[in-house]
Amino acid sequence: MTDFSGVGAMKIEAVEGREAAHFLPVVKRLPVALVEGRGSRVRDAEGGEYTDLTAGWGVTCIGHCHPALVEAISTQAGRLMQTTNLFYNLPQLDLIERLAVLTPDALTRSFLVNSGAEAVEGALKLAHRATGRAGFVSTEGSFHGRTLGALRVIGQAKHREPYEQLILPSTVVPYDDLDAARAAVDSRVAAFIVEPVQGEGGVHVPRDGYLRGLREICDAAGALLIADEIQTGMGRTGRLMGFEHDGVVPDVVTLGKGLGGGFPVAGFLTTEAVAATVKLGDHGTTYGGNPVACAAANAVLRVLTEEKLVERAASLGAKLMERLRSFATEHPELAEGVRGRGLLVGLVLRDAEKAGTIPLRAVDEGVLVNVTAGRVVRFFPPLNIPEDDLWPAVDKVLALAAG
Ligand SMILES: Cc1ncc(COP(=O)(O)O)c(C=O)c1O
Repeated sequence: MTDFSGVGAMKIEAVEGREAAHFLPVVKRLPVALVEGRGSRVRDAEGGEYTDLTAGWGVTCIGHCHPALVEAISTQAGRLMQTTNLFYNLPQLDLIERLAVLTPDALTRSFLVNSGAEAVEGALKLAHRATGRAGFVSTEGSFHGRTLGALRVIGQAKHREPYEQLILPSTVVPYDDLDAARAAVDSRVAAFIVEPVQGEGGVHVPRDGYLRGLREICDAAGALLIADEIQTGMGRTGRLMGFEHDGVVPDVVTLGKGLGGGFPVAGFLTTEAVAATVKLGDHGTTYGGNPVACAAANAVLRVLTEEKLVERAASLGAKLMERLRSFATEHPELAEGVRGRGLLVGLVLRDAEKAGTIPLRAVDEGVLVNVTAGRVVRFFPPLNIPEDDLWPAVDKVLALAAG
């Protein structure tokens, strides 16, 4: 039994009614108001408990409210919450040093911001400063965030089209297609931005060598390679960074989601060569690098290492893929296959309509799970989810897929 305190008791109808009056209705919600989380378990305002296979959208990589994270945030909150960039702050200093140590040697410089989309914006600006060019190439189905700069490179038309008039053009090529990338990256291109595994787009894992090929293409054209690690970073794929699977070092790396383990913090990393092209005033932020956010990220990075969670993502992810693959083999009429790396795994169902009903039906079974790209059931639980919580939840989702 999870040790929940029972705070926030309220009927879901009351929550829905109050929110309907004031919330800007741009997102669809399931009828669940979450009030507490512990590890891979969450509790709602009516007392219902769930296994969280969404990890708060891939964020709570060390589980909800890990004691080390709570302690780091509380201690820093009681000490100093905000400094502005005018002053040095020690948690930020620790974090940029830690990031430099944990990532390939060439990635020495970083800048902290508040959300993934902001990290992408910073990366695009950096690529423009470094190359003097204004073109960008990204991939079909990609997701890079909702701000106008990030929408410029998003590969999902549904997010981009409503704002087309506000967005500068860029080129979108098929994912995992080096010929298309080669044809698109020329001397006008500042950067190619790519997710090492496409998450929102339906958990697409490229062929080995894709990022290496992109590296060569970008080098030949004098363009930068940006790895968007907002979903794949922080151990999610079984390596600290997704690009490590392909043995390349990008020029710029964006981080978010798992970096703060639930506290909003993101950032972008780069090399000395790229960093040398910026000058004072080229970028800035009020909250970015905030001491509490940095204390959170430092705690997450410590826990990932101490609890060997990157390795666990690799080993448990392999078992999860095996379990889902046997389901797909047993039910070829229901499932097209399984894609994934580490604990970012998608079960591709055939029937999109039925797939779309799974998240709501799973709520009744005590499981939070998400479907992306229409019919891909995405499993991205906390990296430290106990197996006795994972397997019953997976079985329930599979029963829903079959039922
Ligand atoms: C790969 C990738 N990039 C960028 C983002 C945007 O991050 P945020 O929602 O924090 O702005 C996301 C969010 O899902 C993402 O998956």
